[in-house]
Amino acid sequence: MATTDTTKGGPGLAQQRHIVTEIPGPASRELFERRQRSVAKGLGHVLPVFVTAAGGGVVLDADGNSLIDFGSGIAVTSVGNSAELVVERVTEQVERFTHTCFMVAPYEGYVQVCEELARLTPGDHDKRSALFNSGAEAVENAVKIARYATGRTAVVVFDHAYHGRTNLTMSMTAKNMPYKQGFGPFANEVYRVPMAYPFRWPGGPAACQAEALDVITGLIHAQVGEQNVAAVVIEPILGEGGFVVPPDGFLPGLAAFCKENGIVFIADEIQSGFCRTGDWFACDHERVVPDMITTAKGIAGGFPLAGVTGRAEIMDAVHAGGLGGTFGGNPVACAAAIGAMETMGKEDLPAAARRIGDIMLPRLRKLAEAYPGVGDVRGRGAMIAIELVKPGTLVPDPETTAKVAKACHQAGLLVLTCGTYGNVLRFLPPLVISEALLTEGLSVLDDAFAQL
Ligand SMILES: Cc1ncc(COP(=O)(O)O)c(C=O)c1O
Repeated sequence: MATTDTTKGGPGLAQQRHIVTEIPGPASRELFERRQRSVAKGLGHVLPVFVTAAGGGVVLDADGNSLIDFGSGIAVTSVGNSAELVVERVTEQVERFTHTCFMVAPYEGYVQVCEELARLTPGDHDKRSALFNSGAEAVENAVKIARYATGRTAVVVFDHAYHGRTNLTMSMTAKNMPYKQGFGPFANEVYRVPMAYPFRWPGGPAACQAEALDVITGLIHAQVGEQNVAAVVIEPILGEGGFVVPPDGFLPGLAAFCKENGIVFIADEIQSGFCRTGDWFACDHERVVPDMITTAKGIAGGFPLAGVTGRAEIMDAVHAGGLGGTFGGNPVACAAAIGAMETMGKEDLPAAARRIGDIMLPRLRKLAEAYPGVGDVRGRGAMIAIELVKPGTLVPDPETTAKVAKACHQAGLLVLTCGTYGNVLRFLPPLVISEALLTEGLSVLDDAFAQL
């Protein structure tokens, strides 16, 4: 039942776009002035409306506007904000205890999350997991473990990759501005190879499919030496780098190359995981079984939790005390994850993501027919993007991308941009969004293009 009580979020909120002020409105602007006086400039904002409640497919702001959410807090609230089972489990846990530190005195919730990770992640081999606070921390630890287990140091990453903002993960991230500029020196033993990016591969998608694996493995052989490589780390569908989907066969080929050479194949599914792409994990699409998988974002309905899950023999190589952290696997975050995963299963959110893709992709292809500046429409499930270029070329068009995003924001549709060149509009609606809101959001996007 829709509620008019806007102090409470969750699925009960009225699922409607309703704009009563300019965006951002006066209350948000006032809060923004306070923010400017107290919060560091280095934190940017996609849209500076101050949120008061959210749920289902809407975000409410301090001025009483209700916006359609096509961002999910960057692929986090896949089960919706303040989802019922998340709130229930978290409330129960908060009333029992909030922290002991798993390294001091353990608790069942942590174990239960690791059991679920073993059950849900690709492959039926014996697995172990360790929990952390953020995606970046998970990637750092995956690399630590792979180095320890192999006794090797080199880490291979890809063009357009994003793995986080800590020193190692920033070094693994491709894009300079805003992530790396001025923040060096960077970690060593990180080697970058081209990404199998069909739209931008010289010669186009067919050449990408035919050549990418050989080019990349050839570079690893010639410039790093397979015997020196601890891990290849790849996002099965790139996130911040522009929702790049590699051609069929690329990921299985890369996994096989790693296996032949004793390299740990790490799938960074921090953005693509937990039902987002229409499978539980993006690797499932081609039945790729990574040696290790990193997860975060959608895992816990908005609570800070991340996981590294891997083959037991790799994970258990590390000595006791070598992994951990004060807050990693906090009991409240674990309770949230259990509630979120239960929701994903009960509501069949992989199917919901596929349905979202089935609705979005034809609409976006139609848009591309009408606007030749939409150079590529891509993605899977509810991880969908369009790449904007100068018509008839591959020249990125970040200005038009920003204009469209702004027009959407003004009209009450929260969309995000991404891509190395800032020319990709990405769509990550909560998987529980109603069909009516989803199609209304797409109409807002159509209108934004019509205003160009
Ligand atoms: C693929 C991928 N890896 C790692 C990260 C870093 O996660 P966090 O921001 O939680 O540190 C992100 C965040 O966007 C991501 O998309």
